[in-house]
Amino acid sequence: MEVEKISVELGERSYEVLVGASLLGRADRLLTDLLLSRGWKRVSLITDKNVGPRYSGTVAGSLSRADLEVTVASVEAGEKSKNGRTAMALVDFMARSLLARSDLVVALGGGVVGDLAGFAASVYKRGIDVLHVPTTLMAQVDSSIGGKTGVNLEHGKNLVGTFHQPVAVLCDVEVLATLAPREYASGLAEVAKYSFLMPDVFSPSIESRGEFIRDPRHPQIAQVVMTCAWIKSQVVAADERDKGPRVVLNYGHTLGHALEAAAEYEGSCTHGEAVSIGMVFAAQVAEKLGVASSGLAERHRRVLRKMGLPVRPAGPAPDFDKVAGHLAQDKKSKGDLTMVLLEEEGSPVVRGDIDLDVLAGCYARLLEAG
Ligand SMILES: NC(=O)c1ccc[n+]([C@@H]2O[C@H](COP(=O)([O-])OP(=O)(O)OC[C@H]3O[C@@H](n4cnc5c(N)ncnc54)[C@H](O)[C@@H]3O)[C@@H](O)[C@H]2O)c1
Ligand SMILES: [Zn+2]
Repeated sequence: MEVEKISVELGERSYEVLVGASLLGRADRLLTDLLLSRGWKRVSLITDKNVGPRYSGTVAGSLSRADLEVTVASVEAGEKSKNGRTAMALVDFMARSLLARSDLVVALGGGVVGDLAGFAASVYKRGIDVLHVPTTLMAQVDSSIGGKTGVNLEHGKNLVGTFHQPVAVLCDVEVLATLAPREYASGLAEVAKYSFLMPDVFSPSIESRGEFIRDPRHPQIAQVVMTCAWIKSQVVAADERDKGPRVVLNYGHTLGHALEAAAEYEGSCTHGEAVSIGMVFAAQVAEKLGVASSGLAERHRRVLRKMGLPVRPAGPAPDFDKVAGHLAQDKKSKGDLTMVLLEEEGSPVVRGDIDLDVLAGCYARLLEAG
């Protein structure tokens, strides 16, 4: 397949997202213009212990062919690595690798590596270039685009972070084939989110793709990644700093984040699984408030089930009081909650006056429906 390019238009911080197959070994050729203009000499490639053994040799090899001196650091896989201590260890690694202000960091991995390496690159010498090479579906369709970096604190997720746009994003869809099915499905939750927010951009529709969507090797997946990356790039270009329209990308994330926090990031529920449940919940809230007509939540369930995603918490669900405690992070001072809701597929609205009692009722109904 051809390499497709999507531009993220941000003035002097503009960059391209490249989507295609077998990109990892071609980084030197694909990035020729940047290699000439940026003058990088050294590269620290940051990865994790699942991704590194599979793919870092190919990426490092191709960067070496461009005469870059490459050092590789590998963190433990998973959300637990997304903390300040690991970020500072990476900054220290960059210093020991003698990276100059004009050098490069490459983030090779999922959203954890991207957020962590992006954050470390943004603070090392007050900010050096970062290239994202996302290897999960979640990272290819969402986290690698838009420049949000961050680490978690004990008090909550992503509480420390920066905006630091990458110089480019390389999405090699072939690497999705080695993802654990559950991690692949987690990324599909963000795909579903985009298809609920902007169904018209998907042709054929996500629903009509049937079971194919669950096969990371299917040729249609590259086009799905491209469509999602395009939507993300448009939204980011319209609102780089997340002060306005970018908020719609939080669809399903209000309850999603609360469920993740209630599970204390222990992996009992992936980000995508939490968002999937959160979107069904948001649809129920929209129906309850009369924002959407009835049927929206059921249509959500149908699409999400087809993708192999949960539509209610698995096992014993956290009780509403615990969830509500975490929802409070998003609360306005007068006590009501802001949520992105859909009037119907393709028509998001932001509602800032949602009563906790309504949410409690919808949460009870979420647990009843199976
Ligand atoms: N910055 C943003 O805008 C943004 C947006 C969405 C999510 N995020 C963050 O992204 C993180 C979640 O990212 P994720 O879902 O990619 O999880 P992840 O980075 O933890 O990756 C999931 C698992 O898959 C493994 N893996 C990655 N690529 C692989 C491959 N090709 N083959 C085999 N195994 C592979 C990883 O080692 C890990 O064990 C969260 O911390 C979330 O907060 C950030
Ligand atoms: Zn998300």
